[in-house]
Amino acid sequence: MTEHPIANTEQAEAWNSEEGQHWAAHQDRYDAMSGAFTEHLLGAAAITETDTVLDIGCGNGQTTRLAARRASRGRAVGLDLSAPMLERAAATAAGEGIANVTFEQGDAQVQPLPSSAFDVAISRFGVMFFADPVAAFANVGTAIRPGGRLAFVCWQDLARNEWLMVPAGAALAFVELPDLGGPGAPGPFSLAEPDRIEVILGDAGFADVHVDSVDAPMRLGADAADAVEFLRGTGMARALLAKADPPTVARALDAVGEALRPHEQADGLYLTGTAWLVTAARP
Ligand SMILES: C[S@@+](CC[C@H](N)C(=O)[O-])C[C@H]1O[C@@H](n2cnc3c(N)ncnc32)[C@H](O)[C@@H]1O
Repeated sequence: MTEHPIANTEQAEAWNSEEGQHWAAHQDRYDAMSGAFTEHLLGAAAITETDTVLDIGCGNGQTTRLAARRASRGRAVGLDLSAPMLERAAATAAGEGIANVTFEQGDAQVQPLPSSAFDVAISRFGVMFFADPVAAFANVGTAIRPGGRLAFVCWQDLARNEWLMVPAGAALAFVELPDLGGPGAPGPFSLAEPDRIEVILGDAGFADVHVDSVDAPMRLGADAADAVEFLRGTGMARALLAKADPPTVARALDAVGEALRPHEQADGLYLTGTAWLVTAARP
Protein backbone atom coordinates (compact mmCIF):
# COMPACT_ATOMS: atom_id res chain seq x y z
CA MET A 1 0.00 0.00 0.00
CA THR A 2 1.31 3.48 -0.90
CA GLU A 3 2.19 5.77 2.02
CA HIS A 4 0.77 9.25 1.61
CA PRO A 5 2.28 12.26 3.38
CA ILE A 6 -0.07 14.02 5.83
CA ALA A 7 0.51 17.59 7.01
CA ASN A 8 -2.94 18.18 8.53
CA THR A 9 -2.71 15.44 11.13
CA GLU A 10 -5.51 16.72 13.42
CA GLN A 11 -7.89 16.98 10.50
CA ALA A 12 -6.84 13.53 9.30
CA GLU A 13 -7.62 12.15 12.72
CA ALA A 14 -11.04 13.85 12.90
CA TRP A 15 -12.12 12.82 9.41
CA ASN A 16 -10.95 9.25 10.00
CA SER A 17 -12.79 8.90 13.32
CA GLU A 18 -16.06 10.24 14.72
CA GLU A 19 -16.58 13.11 12.26
CA GLY A 20 -15.80 11.08 9.12
CA GLN A 21 -17.80 8.12 10.41
CA HIS A 22 -20.83 10.34 11.00
CA TRP A 23 -20.54 11.75 7.47
CA ALA A 24 -20.18 8.24 6.00
CA ALA A 25 -23.13 6.88 8.00
CA HIS A 26 -25.35 9.84 6.99
CA GLN A 27 -24.23 10.23 3.39
CA ASP A 28 -27.73 10.95 2.03
CA ARG A 29 -28.49 13.51 4.72
CA TYR A 30 -25.25 15.44 4.18
CA ASP A 31 -25.80 15.30 0.42
CA ALA A 32 -29.34 16.65 0.87
CA MET A 33 -27.95 19.51 2.97
CA SER A 34 -25.14 20.54 0.63
CA GLY A 35 -26.94 19.44 -2.53
CA ALA A 36 -28.51 22.83 -3.15
CA PHE A 37 -25.02 24.25 -3.77
CA THR A 38 -23.99 21.55 -6.23
CA GLU A 39 -25.48 23.05 -9.38
CA HIS A 40 -23.87 26.41 -8.56
CA LEU A 41 -20.51 24.67 -8.21
CA LEU A 42 -20.75 22.44 -11.28
CA GLY A 43 -22.10 25.30 -13.37
CA ALA A 44 -19.14 27.49 -12.38
CA ALA A 45 -16.71 24.66 -13.10
CA ALA A 46 -18.07 24.40 -16.67
CA ILE A 47 -17.01 20.75 -16.97
CA THR A 48 -16.91 19.51 -20.56
CA GLU A 49 -17.39 15.98 -21.87
CA THR A 50 -13.66 15.37 -22.20
CA ASP A 51 -12.41 17.04 -19.02
CA THR A 52 -10.25 15.42 -16.35
CA VAL A 53 -11.58 16.67 -13.01
CA LEU A 54 -10.02 16.71 -9.52
CA ASP A 55 -12.48 16.89 -6.59
CA ILE A 56 -10.68 18.16 -3.48
CA GLY A 57 -12.01 16.93 -0.14
CA CYS A 58 -14.56 14.86 -2.07
CA GLY A 59 -15.87 13.06 1.02
CA ASN A 60 -18.62 10.61 0.09
CA GLY A 61 -18.07 11.60 -3.54
CA GLN A 62 -21.41 12.96 -4.75
CA THR A 63 -19.78 15.85 -6.62
CA THR A 64 -17.08 13.52 -7.99
CA ARG A 65 -19.74 11.23 -9.42
CA LEU A 66 -21.69 14.13 -10.89
CA ALA A 67 -18.49 15.54 -12.39
CA ALA A 68 -17.66 12.12 -13.88
CA ARG A 69 -21.10 11.96 -15.49
CA ARG A 70 -20.52 15.38 -17.09
CA ALA A 71 -16.99 14.39 -18.17
CA SER A 72 -18.42 11.30 -19.88
CA ARG A 73 -15.39 10.92 -22.18
CA GLY A 74 -12.97 12.18 -19.51
CA ARG A 75 -12.73 11.18 -15.88
CA ALA A 76 -12.93 12.42 -12.31
CA VAL A 77 -10.62 11.79 -9.35
CA GLY A 78 -11.76 12.36 -5.77
CA LEU A 79 -9.09 13.16 -3.17
CA ASP A 80 -9.84 13.06 0.54
CA LEU A 81 -8.27 12.41 3.95
CA SER A 82 -11.12 10.22 5.16
CA ALA A 83 -10.99 6.44 4.70
CA PRO A 84 -14.59 5.84 5.87
CA MET A 85 -15.95 8.47 3.48
CA LEU A 86 -13.83 7.27 0.55
CA GLU A 87 -15.15 3.77 1.14
CA ARG A 88 -18.71 5.13 0.78
CA ALA A 89 -17.64 7.12 -2.26
CA ALA A 90 -16.18 4.10 -4.07
CA ALA A 91 -19.10 1.82 -3.15
CA THR A 92 -21.66 4.38 -4.33
CA ALA A 93 -19.86 4.99 -7.62
CA ALA A 94 -19.67 1.22 -8.23
CA GLY A 95 -23.36 0.86 -7.33
CA GLU A 96 -24.25 3.56 -9.86
CA GLY A 97 -22.06 1.89 -12.50
CA ILE A 98 -19.82 4.94 -12.96
CA ALA A 99 -16.57 3.64 -14.45
CA ASN A 100 -14.67 6.90 -15.09
CA VAL A 101 -14.19 7.82 -11.45
CA THR A 102 -11.44 6.95 -8.96
CA PHE A 103 -10.82 7.92 -5.37
CA GLU A 104 -7.53 8.53 -3.59
CA GLN A 105 -6.74 8.99 0.07
CA GLY A 106 -4.41 11.89 0.80
CA ASP A 107 -3.89 15.39 2.15
CA ALA A 108 -4.47 17.90 -0.66
CA GLN A 109 -1.88 20.19 0.94
CA VAL A 110 1.01 17.78 0.36
CA GLN A 111 -0.28 14.90 -1.76
CA PRO A 112 2.04 14.34 -4.75
CA LEU A 113 -0.26 15.05 -7.69
CA PRO A 114 0.53 14.57 -11.38
CA SER A 115 1.69 17.83 -12.93
CA SER A 116 -0.80 19.70 -15.17
CA ALA A 117 -2.97 16.58 -15.33
CA PHE A 118 -6.38 18.15 -14.64
CA ASP A 119 -8.51 20.55 -16.65
CA VAL A 120 -10.46 21.63 -13.61
CA ALA A 121 -10.38 21.21 -9.83
CA ILE A 122 -13.60 21.49 -7.85
CA SER A 123 -14.60 21.32 -4.20
CA ARG A 124 -17.88 21.43 -2.29
CA PHE A 125 -16.88 22.61 1.19
CA GLY A 126 -13.64 20.56 1.21
CA VAL A 127 -10.99 23.32 1.10
CA MET A 128 -11.39 25.10 4.46
CA PHE A 129 -9.38 22.69 6.59
CA PHE A 130 -5.78 23.41 5.52
CA ALA A 131 -3.22 24.58 8.11
CA ASP A 132 -1.32 26.17 5.21
CA PRO A 133 -3.91 27.14 2.60
CA VAL A 134 -1.40 28.81 0.26
CA ALA A 135 0.67 25.60 0.15
CA ALA A 136 -2.50 23.54 -0.36
CA PHE A 137 -3.90 25.65 -3.21
CA ALA A 138 -0.42 25.86 -4.78
CA ASN A 139 -0.20 22.06 -4.67
CA VAL A 140 -3.62 21.77 -6.32
CA GLY A 141 -2.55 24.44 -8.81
CA THR A 142 0.42 22.39 -10.02
CA ALA A 143 -2.00 19.58 -10.86
CA ILE A 144 -4.16 21.86 -13.03
CA ARG A 145 -2.97 22.46 -16.58
CA PRO A 146 -2.10 26.02 -17.62
CA GLY A 147 -5.39 27.61 -18.67
CA GLY A 148 -7.31 25.20 -16.42
CA ARG A 149 -9.85 26.17 -13.79
CA LEU A 150 -10.57 26.03 -10.08
CA ALA A 151 -14.11 26.26 -8.68
CA PHE A 152 -15.23 25.73 -5.10
CA VAL A 153 -17.83 26.65 -2.51
CA CYS A 154 -16.91 27.51 1.09
CA TRP A 155 -18.96 28.87 3.99
CA GLN A 156 -19.49 32.53 4.71
CA ASP A 157 -19.52 33.61 8.38
CA LEU A 158 -21.41 31.56 10.94
CA ALA A 159 -23.66 34.57 11.58
CA ARG A 160 -24.80 34.52 7.93
CA ASN A 161 -25.70 30.82 8.04
CA GLU A 162 -29.25 30.32 9.26
CA TRP A 163 -28.84 26.51 9.10
CA LEU A 164 -26.34 26.78 11.97
CA MET A 165 -27.50 29.93 13.73
CA VAL A 166 -31.06 28.69 14.33
CA PRO A 167 -30.14 25.39 16.04
CA ALA A 168 -26.92 26.62 17.69
CA GLY A 169 -28.61 29.85 18.81
CA ALA A 170 -31.33 27.85 20.59
CA ALA A 171 -28.78 25.53 22.22
CA LEU A 172 -26.70 28.49 23.41
CA ALA A 173 -29.36 29.42 25.96
CA PHE A 174 -28.18 26.30 27.82
CA VAL A 175 -24.56 25.68 26.84
CA GLU A 176 -21.42 27.70 26.11
CA LEU A 177 -20.10 28.45 22.65
CA PRO A 178 -17.13 26.13 22.01
CA ASP A 179 -13.83 27.48 20.72
CA LEU A 180 -14.25 27.70 16.94
CA GLY A 181 -10.61 28.74 16.42
CA GLY A 182 -9.39 32.20 15.44
CA PRO A 183 -10.08 33.73 12.03
CA GLY A 184 -8.22 31.68 9.47
CA ALA A 185 -7.78 28.61 11.71
CA PRO A 186 -8.56 25.41 9.80
CA GLY A 187 -12.30 24.79 10.06
CA PRO A 188 -15.58 25.47 8.28
CA PHE A 189 -15.23 29.29 8.44
CA SER A 190 -11.53 29.66 7.61
CA LEU A 191 -12.34 31.16 4.18
CA ALA A 192 -15.27 33.28 5.32
CA GLU A 193 -13.50 36.54 4.37
CA PRO A 194 -13.47 37.09 0.60
CA ASP A 195 -10.38 39.33 0.75
CA ARG A 196 -8.48 36.49 2.38
CA ILE A 197 -9.62 34.07 -0.35
CA GLU A 198 -8.26 36.44 -3.02
CA VAL A 199 -4.91 36.84 -1.24
CA ILE A 200 -4.52 33.10 -0.66
CA LEU A 201 -5.36 32.16 -4.24
CA GLY A 202 -3.15 34.94 -5.61
CA ASP A 203 -0.23 33.80 -3.44
CA ALA A 204 -0.89 30.22 -4.55
CA GLY A 205 -0.42 31.27 -8.19
CA PHE A 206 -4.03 31.57 -9.38
CA ALA A 207 -5.36 34.44 -11.49
CA ASP A 208 -8.83 35.78 -12.35
CA VAL A 209 -10.22 35.13 -8.90
CA HIS A 210 -13.99 35.73 -8.57
CA VAL A 211 -15.91 35.41 -5.31
CA ASP A 212 -19.73 35.46 -5.50
CA SER A 213 -22.28 35.06 -2.76
CA VAL A 214 -24.75 32.15 -3.06
CA ASP A 215 -27.70 31.26 -0.83
CA ALA A 216 -29.34 27.87 -0.96
CA PRO A 217 -32.08 26.01 0.91
CA MET A 218 -30.53 23.20 2.93
CA ARG A 219 -32.75 20.24 3.81
CA LEU A 220 -31.93 19.19 7.37
CA GLY A 221 -34.54 16.47 7.72
CA ALA A 222 -38.12 15.36 7.25
CA ASP A 223 -39.27 17.52 10.18
CA ALA A 224 -37.90 19.20 13.32
CA ALA A 225 -37.64 15.98 15.36
CA ASP A 226 -35.81 14.20 12.54
CA ALA A 227 -33.43 17.16 12.10
CA VAL A 228 -32.64 17.28 15.85
CA GLU A 229 -31.91 13.55 15.89
CA PHE A 230 -29.44 14.04 13.05
CA LEU A 231 -27.91 17.33 14.20
CA ARG A 232 -27.08 16.05 17.70
CA GLY A 233 -24.50 13.69 16.15
CA THR A 234 -22.75 16.36 14.06
CA GLY A 235 -19.36 17.76 15.02
CA MET A 236 -20.84 21.18 15.82
CA ALA A 237 -23.43 19.72 18.22
CA ARG A 238 -20.92 17.38 19.83
CA ALA A 239 -18.69 20.39 20.51
CA LEU A 240 -21.63 22.46 21.86
CA LEU A 241 -22.95 19.72 24.13
CA ALA A 242 -19.65 18.14 25.21
CA LYS A 243 -19.53 19.71 28.67
CA ALA A 244 -23.25 19.67 29.48
CA ASP A 245 -24.87 17.11 31.83
CA PRO A 246 -27.67 14.89 30.44
CA PRO A 247 -30.63 17.01 31.73
CA THR A 248 -29.05 20.14 30.21
CA VAL A 249 -28.48 18.32 26.91
CA ALA A 250 -32.15 17.26 26.90
CA ARG A 251 -33.34 20.85 27.53
CA ALA A 252 -31.00 22.22 24.87
CA LEU A 253 -32.25 19.67 22.30
CA ASP A 254 -35.88 20.49 23.14
CA ALA A 255 -35.09 24.15 22.53
CA VAL A 256 -33.44 23.30 19.20
CA GLY A 257 -36.56 21.36 18.16
CA GLU A 258 -38.78 24.34 19.09
CA ALA A 259 -36.56 26.71 17.10
CA LEU A 260 -36.58 24.43 14.05
CA ARG A 261 -40.34 23.76 13.96
CA PRO A 262 -41.31 27.04 12.20
CA HIS A 263 -39.02 26.02 9.33
CA GLU A 264 -40.91 22.80 8.54
CA GLN A 265 -42.35 22.63 5.03
CA ALA A 266 -44.55 20.01 3.38
CA ASP A 267 -41.55 18.11 2.00
CA GLY A 268 -39.01 18.62 4.77
CA LEU A 269 -37.26 21.09 7.05
CA TYR A 270 -35.21 23.71 5.25
CA LEU A 271 -32.85 26.44 6.46
CA THR A 272 -30.76 28.76 4.33
CA GLY A 273 -27.03 28.27 3.89
CA THR A 274 -24.82 31.08 2.64
CA ALA A 275 -21.57 30.32 0.85
CA TRP A 276 -18.96 31.90 -1.38
CA LEU A 277 -18.76 30.50 -4.88
CA VAL A 278 -15.14 30.96 -5.90
CA THR A 279 -13.62 30.57 -9.35
CA ALA A 280 -10.03 31.10 -10.46
CA ALA A 281 -7.78 30.24 -13.37
CA ARG A 282 -4.35 28.63 -13.56
CA PRO A 283 -2.29 31.02 -15.75
C1 LIG B 1 -17.38 19.34 4.89
S1 LIG B 1 -16.75 17.85 4.22
C2 LIG B 1 -17.29 17.97 2.53
C3 LIG B 1 -17.28 16.64 1.82
C4 LIG B 1 -17.81 16.65 0.39
N1 LIG B 1 -17.04 17.53 -0.48
C5 LIG B 1 -19.26 16.99 0.34
O1 LIG B 1 -19.64 18.02 -0.22
O2 LIG B 1 -20.08 16.20 0.86
C6 LIG B 1 -15.02 18.22 4.10
C7 LIG B 1 -14.20 17.15 3.49
O3 LIG B 1 -12.88 17.63 3.29
C8 LIG B 1 -11.96 16.60 3.59
N2 LIG B 1 -10.65 17.21 3.91
C9 LIG B 1 -10.37 18.05 4.93
N3 LIG B 1 -9.08 18.42 4.87
C10 LIG B 1 -8.52 17.79 3.80
C11 LIG B 1 -7.22 17.76 3.23
N4 LIG B 1 -6.21 18.44 3.76
N5 LIG B 1 -7.03 17.01 2.12
C12 LIG B 1 -8.05 16.29 1.57
N6 LIG B 1 -9.29 16.28 2.08
C13 LIG B 1 -9.54 17.02 3.17
C14 LIG B 1 -12.62 15.88 4.76
O4 LIG B 1 -12.11 14.59 4.96
C15 LIG B 1 -14.08 15.89 4.33
O5 LIG B 1 -14.41 14.78 3.57
